[in-house]
Amino acid sequence: MEQIQIIDSKKHVGEIVTIGAWVANKRSSGKIAFLQLRDGTAFFQGVVVKSEVPEEVFQMAKNLSQETSILVTGEIREDSRSKFGYEIGITNIEVVSESHDYPITPKEHGTDFLMDHRHLWLRSSRQHAVMQIRNEIIRATYEFFNNNQFVKIDPPILTGSAPEGTTDLFETNYFDQKAYLSQSGQLYMEAAAMAFGKVFSFGPTFRAEKSKTRRHLIEFWMIEPEMAFTHQEESLEVQEQYVAFLVQSVLDNCEYALDVLERDKEVLKTYTKLPFPRITYDDAIELLKKNGFDDIEWGDDFGSPHETFIANSFEQPVFILNYPKAIKPFYMKPHPTREDVVICADMIAPEGYGEIIGGSERATDYDFLLEQIKSHGLDEKEYSWYLDLRKYGSVPHSGFGLGLERTVTWISGIDHVREAIPFPRLLNRIYP
Ligand code: 4AD
Ligand code: MG
Repeated sequence: MEQIQIIDSKKHVGEIVTIGAWVANKRSSGKIAFLQLRDGTAFFQGVVVKSEVPEEVFQMAKNLSQETSILVTGEIREDSRSKFGYEIGITNIEVVSESHDYPITPKEHGTDFLMDHRHLWLRSSRQHAVMQIRNEIIRATYEFFNNNQFVKIDPPILTGSAPEGTTDLFETNYFDQKAYLSQSGQLYMEAAAMAFGKVFSFGPTFRAEKSKTRRHLIEFWMIEPEMAFTHQEESLEVQEQYVAFLVQSVLDNCEYALDVLERDKEVLKTYTKLPFPRITYDDAIELLKKNGFDDIEWGDDFGSPHETFIANSFEQPVFILNYPKAIKPFYMKPHPTREDVVICADMIAPEGYGEIIGGSERATDYDFLLEQIKSHGLDEKEYSWYLDLRKYGSVPHSGFGLGLERTVTWISGIDHVREAIPFPRLLNRIYP
C-alpha cells in the first residue's frame, strides 16, 4: 500500500492507497459517512459504507471531529459529481492526532475573527485556492524571465535609500546609522542592469501606508525587472507579455482553484490578448471630466474610483502613460518636448482592481538627476553611488514593478488584498 497525495489520483485509480489528511467536514446517515477531507494538495471526499467496513471503522468515521488528522486507506475512484473529480472509498482510518473545538466552523465568520485566526484560516478551501494561484504566479514569473534571458538579482532589504518618497518609510537602527526597510529594489536593479543587461528581482518590500484600503499592504512582494538599452515602448511590450503570460499560466495550471473561487475563465482569457490599450494621463483626465468627475484636475493623482472608471472603459488591462512630473518619483526620464510630464506608465487591472504595475524609463542625465535628488529633499551623499551609474557608460534603460498581491487578488477575483498573502501585515495588524 502506497502513501500518496490526492492530487496524484489520476495515476492511482483503482489502487488501494493511504493518504495523510485532515477532516474538513463530514455528514453521515445510518449507513454511510461522507468525510470532506483535505491533504494539503486538494479537498476531496472519503466515503465509508457501514456494510463494507468493520463496525469500529464506521463508528470512528461518524465521530471524527473537524481538523482531526488521520491516515485513510482505501481505493481511489473517479467521481464525476465533485469539482475535484476523484474520491476515496475508505476501508480503514487511523487517527494521528485529535482536534477539539476547532474555532473556524462551517458557519460564516466575521473578517476580524478570521484574520485573528489566519494561521488556521489558511486551511480553508478558498484560502487554499488563492495560495495555489499565488504559487502559480510565482512559478510563472521565474519561467517568463528565465525564458527571456533575465538574470535574477536580489537587492538588499535594509537600505539607506528612499526611491518612492520619504513619507511611508520604515526606519530602523543600523548600528549607529539610520536604515530603512526597502520600499523598492529599483535603484539597485538599475546598477544590476548595467552589469547584467536584463535583470529582475522578486522580494518583499515595505511601506508604512497609513491608508486602510482593499489594495494596500504594509509588507508586499514586488517583481522588479530592469533592462539596459531599452526604451519605455519596449518595456511596455515586456509588461503586457508578462501579465498575459501570468494569466495564461493560471488558466493552464490552476483550473481547480479557479473553480473553487468561481472565477470566470472566459473573462480571464480576454486578458491574454495583446496588445493592451494605452491612454495618456492627459486623455484619462479628459475622459473622467467628460464623464462627470468634477473632483479631479490635471496634476492630481488618480484615486481608486478614477482608476476603476478608466479600467471599465476598456476590456483588458490598460496602460496610463506619462503622468505629471510633480506626482512621480525623482528618477523618471523627462519628456523630450514637455516640461510637465515624465516617461512612465501604470498598468491598471480591469474590474476595479487598480494599479498592478508602476514603471518608467529612467533619467540618464547626471545633472538632471542631481537636481532632482536635491529638489526631492534627498541627501545627495546617500545617492552618490546611484549617480555613478550615470558617470560610467550610462545607457537608456527602463523597468517596472509588479505588485504580487494585487495581481493575485485580480486574477483570483477576490475582494481584498489581505487574502492574497499568507500572513498579511496591515495597518495595526502584525498578528498572527
Ligand atoms: O508604483 P510603485 O510604487 O513603483 C515602484 O516601486 C517602482 N520603483 C517600481 C519599478 O519601476 N521598479 O509600486 C509598484 C507596484 C504597484 O503598481 C502595486 O502593484 C504594488 O507595487 N504596490 C503595492 N501592493 C500592495 N500594497 C501596497 N502598499 C503597494 N504599494 C505598491
Ligand atoms: Mg505606483
